[in-house]
Amino acid sequence: MCPTTSRISAVEWAELRRLRLLALEESPDAFLGDFATESALKPSAWKRRCNNEEWFAAELDGRNVGLGMLAKRHGPDKYLHIESMWVEPDHRTAGVGRALLERLESEAKRQGEEKIALWVFVGNTDAWQYYVKMGYEFVRDQDIKISVDRVTTEKEFQKGLR
Ligand SMILES: CC(C)(COP(=O)(O)OP(=O)(O)OC[C@H]1O[C@@H](n2cnc3c(N)ncnc32)[C@H](O)[C@@H]1OP(=O)(O)O)[C@@H](O)C(=O)NCCC(=O)NCCS
Repeated sequence: MCPTTSRISAVEWAELRRLRLLALEESPDAFLGDFATESALKPSAWKRRCNNEEWFAAELDGRNVGLGMLAKRHGPDKYLHIESMWVEPDHRTAGVGRALLERLESEAKRQGEEKIALWVFVGNTDAWQYYVKMGYEFVRDQDIKISVDRVTTEKEFQKGLR
């Protein structure tokens, strides 16, 4: 079966919560958010996330097994970017991530974007090798503060959408 993707609407906030918390629990070092903080968010906060950010689920064999988000620009000179990509471990390398990326890229293109960006922690070698395979080009390394006393480096990648 081929994976399909769909936008998660505010009425489906509980499904976003389920997938996002699974991602934070399973891959704690891949994301800026953390399980303790996000598991304490109220339903209203999850509904807001569904409305303010574009979250997409990927379904395989009748079940959602992946998640990705098209995020707004960080600044006027920046591109829309991809965040929070995650696929259940049992369903990896089956094309679920590719289906999500293609959906996020086509949504960005539909909104008139010519490029899309994403950031990966430098230690997440699997993920950045994956994005290179998916046609993303390395742009730069930048430091990012992940807590009051911890700084790490993330790698920025971009892809043209023509
Ligand atoms: C990164 C991730 C989303 C990829 O999802 P996926 O569903 O496994 O990827 P796909 O099945 O779409 O892979 C597409 C292709 O890339 C290949 N690929 C998958 N992971 C790869 C890796 N780490 N390095 C190189 N190639 C990889 C697949 O084999 C497939 O190749 P093919 O087209 O020749 O068959 C998934 O591994 C994941 O959830 N990782 C943990 C969370 C994470 O690190 N997220 C990124 C945060 S920035």
